[in-house]
Amino acid sequence: IARPVPVIAIDGPTASGKGSIATAVAEALGFVCLDSGVLYRLTAWEALQQGVPLDDSDALTRLAADLPVTFAAGGIVLNGHVFDAAQLRTEAVGQAASTIAAIPSVREALFALQRSFRRAPGLVADGRDMGTVVFPDAPLKVFLTASAHSRAERRYKQLISQGIPAILADVFAELELRDARDTQRDVAALKPAPDAQLLDSTDLSLEQTVEAVLALWRQSV
Ligand code: DC
Repeated sequence: IARPVPVIAIDGPTASGKGSIATAVAEALGFVCLDSGVLYRLTAWEALQQGVPLDDSDALTRLAADLPVTFAAGGIVLNGHVFDAAQLRTEAVGQAASTIAAIPSVREALFALQRSFRRAPGLVADGRDMGTVVFPDAPLKVFLTASAHSRAERRYKQLISQGIPAILADVFAELELRDARDTQRDVAALKPAPDAQLLDSTDLSLEQTVEAVLALWRQSV
């Protein structure tokens, strides 16, 4: 009997460094990488673009179900529009993504697309509910945390380094707002799976955090 394709699920709050860590872990292992937040961001972007109200569940669900997206080496292509990551990473798109992500039927509409990323030799998937809902059988689940203060500082430095003006206090406030929405929603709220390994990266560098995940992976196989 063929063994299921392994999945490393990496979940955590906004600005916990999930994305960079997932990318580096996938690269080290030669695995496919899924940034599930991008799918919520693409749906939100398309909704904003088409002027679909963010409380119109039916229209948003149709959008998510028929997301005309392809992932190519050159980037993400939606409706013939090639995105660079920065366009989807804006605060407006992030808040809109967090809003529509609270709608159960939107989440369901994105299941099959997320699961289609599970391909040999393995998948590293990052998000909020990778270990709890989308890949509950993942052999390794990591729940990444870091203090709100250090996450706000990282996000702030990232914005400044990209030449985007930012105020630390505002970044902190937005982050707390998003944390609250992501952890308090009724469906697939952000929480560790019962069998997740907690990893606090407050005092770890990116390299050290990646090494810690790889060590957990080596222990688990
Ligand atoms: O990880 P991110 O910041 O790119 O995600 C954007 C929003 O999408 C986030 O605020 C909540 C939502 N999201 C989700 O609900 N479930 C996921 N697996 C990934 C993201």
